[in-house]
This record gives sequence, structure tokens and C-alpha cells, in this order.
Amino acid sequence: MNNNSLDKFILEVKKVWGPLSTDVVQNSKHLFGELVKAPSSEPWLADLINNPPEAKELYRDSERGFLLIAYSEKKDTYRIPHDHGSGWVIYGIQNGEMEMGTYIRNVDQKGKLQLVNRETYPMRAGDNKVYLPGDIHHTRCLSESVLVLRFTSCDFKKEDEEGRMIRYQDYEQNPACSMLGCSLARPCSFCQERGNR
Ligand SMILES: [Fe+2]
Repeated sequence: MNNNSLDKFILEVKKVWGPLSTDVVQNSKHLFGELVKAPSSEPWLADLINNPPEAKELYRDSERGFLLIAYSEKKDTYRIPHDHGSGWVIYGIQNGEMEMGTYIRNVDQKGKLQLVNRETYPMRAGDNKVYLPGDIHHTRCLSESVLVLRFTSCDFKKEDEEGRMIRYQDYEQNPACSMLGCSLARPCSFCQERGNR
């Protein structure tokens, strides 16, 4: 391994890794925070900056399950409110600006489900934020483009395919489903439980 920020992160995060806990999250966040601020002169990062990938896997730990990817988006790319199933994630901005909106899922006394936006804030170069299992958020690219590093506790494709990840349709503009409905091809566990769809 070369002595660069990416190799250092991988080496160090393995040492602090374990099942979800405050220590694992905080230690990973600390290490990830350093990675996000790595000098752009490092070859792995210079390559990402010069050729922003749609999505590129930087490291996959088959033993521990965690995954580090880089991806880029263009202005106004919007990802509807979603959670990450049983996984948790740290988002970091390498360059550009991305809006994050966080939500809680509230069931009122009549049993109607609604999402309530807790806060919406910009993330800028060097920022990183943790989203734990069950946290719901949206993202929107605010700048011409954004380069994001994303460290996830597991492969979110699996969370999606196995029905644990929920994407909420645009509940303000498309209230077709009275209970918001998720966008999965087959009902997710939440929708199944509530008889939705
Ligand atoms: Fe997400």
C-alpha cells in the first residue's frame, strides 16, 4: 500500500470497525473526516477530481462488509427522501455543494403517515455527516457539480434488493398513495406491515 490518505483510512478504519455502536461511528467519522480533507495532489483523488465518476468503488471490505465509494452529480440532481435499511452511512463532500434534508416519519392519531422535515442544510467541501439506520434524508446537488465520498456499513444495493431500504415518493407533489408508498418494485417490509400497496 502507498502511504496516502485513502490507504491510511482503510487501514485505520479496519482497526476501529465492529457492530454499530457509538464508538464505531465516532471513530469512523473522525477517520473519514480526514479522508475528505485529503490533499487533491494525491493521485487517487486527483484522478477522481479530473474524471468525476458516476460511481466508483474505492474499497470494499468483504470480511467486514463496509464499502467506500465516490460519485459525482450534476446541478439539481435530487434524490427523494429515503432511508438506508439496516445500514448506516457517512457522506462527505470533496468539492461542490449538496443540500441535505432530514425527516422523521410520523403516524398521526388517524394512522396517516407523513414525513416531517426536521432540517435542510448545505454540505460543502470538507463537511461530513452520519446517517444512522432509520434516518431519512434527501439530497440535492446545489452547485454545477459535486464530488461525494460515501462510506457505508454495508452494500446498500443489498438493502434495496431485499426490501429493507425505503424510498418515499415525492409526497408533496404526488400524494397518489395516501400512505406515501415506497418506490420499490415489490412492497417493502414497512408497506407490507401496513397493508400499503
Ligand atoms: Fe442516502
